Amino acid sequence: MKKSYNIAVLPGDGTGPEVVAEGVKVLKAVAQVEDITLNFTTYDFGGERYLKTGETLPDGAIEELKKYDAIFLGAIGHPDVKPGILEKGILLKLRFELDQYINLRPVKLYPNVETPLKDKGPQDIDYVVVRENTGDVYTGIGGVTMKGTPHEEAMQIMVYNRFQVERCLRYAFEYARKRNKKKTLALVGKTNVLTYVYDLWERAFHEIGQKEYPDIKREYYHVDATCMWMVKNPEWFDVLVTGNMFGDIITDLGAITQGGMGIAAGGNINPEGVSMFEPIGGSAPKYTGKNVINPLAAICAAQMMMAHLGQEKAANRIEKGVVEVLQRDMKSLAAGKMGLTTTQVGDKVAEYAIK
Ligand code: IPM
Ligand code: MN
Repeated sequence: MKKSYNIAVLPGDGTGPEVVAEGVKVLKAVAQVEDITLNFTTYDFGGERYLKTGETLPDGAIEELKKYDAIFLGAIGHPDVKPGILEKGILLKLRFELDQYINLRPVKLYPNVETPLKDKGPQDIDYVVVRENTGDVYTGIGGVTMKGTPHEEAMQIMVYNRFQVERCLRYAFEYARKRNKKKTLALVGKTNVLTYVYDLWERAFHEIGQKEYPDIKREYYHVDATCMWMVKNPEWFDVLVTGNMFGDIITDLGAITQGGMGIAAGGNINPEGVSMFEPIGGSAPKYTGKNVINPLAAICAAQMMMAHLGQEKAANRIEKGVVEVLQRDMKSLAAGKMGLTTTQVGDKVAEYAIK
């Protein structure tokens, strides 16, 4: 089995570099005990670079990144840059051009973590959202006419083709099978209103499920109802699959039920190419440089990266480290209230992970 990996590190903006540093610290620790070689190469893509050079991603960056085994990303977003520029020019561009067509977002409540859901515990909140990551309103198809006039008209169109839908669904079915828990895949849509787009999803879902995955139980929920059940009965869920926009929204809801942005991680996955792992929260500029931000989301992203690379043992070690620091040391997951600094959290996770 392969034991040496080249990892591109994109710390990005705000607190991104601080949390990524802790992720790298933990990765280095587990790599050593598991006899894995990790070669890290850092890139400075982000808001600071954009303000200095006017460039989001330089020419050739995508081709260069394709050569890595994985990408570890901190956060993209800068208070002095107009919303949309960095998101479109860096984060979404990477996802699209590297064809990372899956955004995998586990919603898992660890012991000793507070959830806003009344009477729910770790046994109730443990599911995974498979968010399609290349289509939907994110493609940018649309436009605006008569801008600034009372007749201004704007549109941004939800676009999906059968190919995109099928590859995402197959990934989700395979994931439900491999996960081997409830063996249930739920499609989250809006077939009562989006009668073209989610009709396409629903037909593909049942056709593929029936033919290729008879062992996986199929369920369907409208997205609005899903939000309700994620709060009231999260224990119903095993694997959810949905389009890009609904996936974006419901995973923020999911994140808060698992303890918030301090712990929520995700993987932008191209099963045939290079994947990118990131904490799903933003750059949190107000906490920058204070050593107070929670690095666990980045550390969990590092764990997902190891699992994705087939290094299950290293991934399990990281998870063990996270569980232990939560149980033994952390007072809260909120920035500044952890009872530990950012670097101390990283130190502790690294220590517990290699025990
Ligand atoms: C996310 C973020 C991004 C998205 C933004 C920053 C473009 O909210 O990763 O969920 O909408 O996908
Ligand atoms: Mn989001």
